[in-house]
Amino acid sequence: MGYSDADAAELYDLLNRWGKSDDFYLTFVMGAGSVLDVGCGTGVLLARARAEGHTGRLAGIDPDVSMLERARRRVPDAEWVEGKAADITWLGEFDRAIMASNAFQFLVTDLEESLHRIREALVDGGRFVFGTRNPEVREWESWNPTNPYDVVDHNGRELRMIYHVEKVEGDVVTFTETTALRDDTPLRTDRASLNFPGVDTLNAVLTKAGFTIEAQYGDWSRGPLTSASENIITVARR
Ligand SMILES: C[S@@+](CC[C@H](N)C(=O)[O-])C[C@H]1O[C@@H](n2cnc3c(N)ncnc32)[C@H](O)[C@@H]1O
Repeated sequence: MGYSDADAAELYDLLNRWGKSDDFYLTFVMGAGSVLDVGCGTGVLLARARAEGHTGRLAGIDPDVSMLERARRRVPDAEWVEGKAADITWLGEFDRAIMASNAFQFLVTDLEESLHRIREALVDGGRFVFGTRNPEVREWESWNPTNPYDVVDHNGRELRMIYHVEKVEGDVVTFTETTALRDDTPLRTDRASLNFPGVDTLNAVLTKAGFTIEAQYGDWSRGPLTSASENIITVARR
């Protein structure tokens, strides 16, 4: 048994349907001539941009080969690069950099270097737009086996996603996502550590990296950021 990386990439798209956050990011993509999607995953955002008539330069970078393969098939005329944010080598080339679906939270030990690289990839005045879950809401407390999520995959397989937080250390939450059968038989387990910086930490690290914070929102309709907001949504300018 088991569950392949290619299947997991397909499953990712089933578990992460287009939503309000994607509409938010899409307006920033459509309004820019050149866009870099950092942690682009399966390429959903840039694929939608092309489908809606974006004719400019679109590039995505992600360390997950299977996700990237799916992105490449979706938009063959975009640039798809295997790598982490800290591996970015573009210099002064993009009007926008985006990190959608909380990809930003995967920047843990290499956060400062990643921000430096993202800034370098932007033109002067270019904007970096991303969201990160607000740690004050402590969303990870609901990521436990009593809250499984049932899904039917692209092959009609009835699956159960089971989450388990292993540890919380400072701002970093380490958890597992197990893809299982409905009787809880595990097929694969993925482990990830996510960074949950609070707004003060976030703004300090952005400022240190040379960004000016242009706007910060607490929801995808551009409502104000409060301690109860689920997300910290930032537009930062090089
Ligand atoms: C939650 S997914 C978001 C994918 C995509 N942005 C979306 O909206 O569907 C997070 C992505 O970040 C990628 N990732 C993990 N570590 C990364 C890093 N250090 N730099 C860039 N991307 C990273 C993962 O491979 C994964 O595809």
